[in-house]
Amino acid sequence: MPKRIVIAIDGPASSGKGTVARAVARSLGFAYIDTGAMYRCVALLASRAGLSLSDADGLSQLTDRLRFEFVWLGGMLSIVVNGEDLSDAIRFESVGRGASNVAVHAQVRSALVLRQRAMADEGGVVMDGRDIGSVVLPDAALKIYLDASVDVRAKRRHQELIQKGQSIPLETIRAQVSERDQQDRERTESPLVQVDDAVYLDTSALSPQQAAQIIIDLAWERA
Ligand code: DC
Repeated sequence: MPKRIVIAIDGPASSGKGTVARAVARSLGFAYIDTGAMYRCVALLASRAGLSLSDADGLSQLTDRLRFEFVWLGGMLSIVVNGEDLSDAIRFESVGRGASNVAVHAQVRSALVLRQRAMADEGGVVMDGRDIGSVVLPDAALKIYLDASVDVRAKRRHQELIQKGQSIPLETIRAQVSERDQQDRERTESPLVQVDDAVYLDTSALSPQQAAQIIIDLAWERA
């Protein structure tokens, strides 16, 4: 196992971050923290509570009351919030859009960033999101910017949804992916950017295993 470094992986929606980051973490024996899941949980719980996703104060009060745990349940890495497993409920595209909406608020971000930094405190972590290399863990030993063309990302998402029994036309998914990209790239607070010291990795023509192996090799070099 390489020294317990911190690996930051950023990139747009459906670039393969989750699958790749999980494979890297498993291979290195590191923890995996999916920060997108945290924003998704805030969006889901806000909707359940009848909060508007533009109510920054209400959202930040809600976020302050949440306790996040990433735990292995039945061979799957689950996100448990205040004792409730929300892993499946947050995987709908509507929740992804909600997450992108709550993520524009500085107060929500700062509350989540504090928790994310605490989770990476002891090293040996792979963390993925939009602002990990730029804001959450600027000192990460290895930063990756994972990308893929919008067509490839829309097709991947389409396949994923079919496997979950959700049938949404490819064109609709492509439009949703592009819209989310634009919002995540153009927001004022911690927009998605490729930082100078990140390694750019286009996964359009790579399998998740190939992409993961490139990152694992880089981790050994950096460690
Ligand atoms: O990675 P994901 O698709 O699960 O993320 C959902 C949304 O959460 C994404 O569109 C923007 C937001 N997000 C963010 O702003 N910062 C992060 N570090 C992770 C996600």
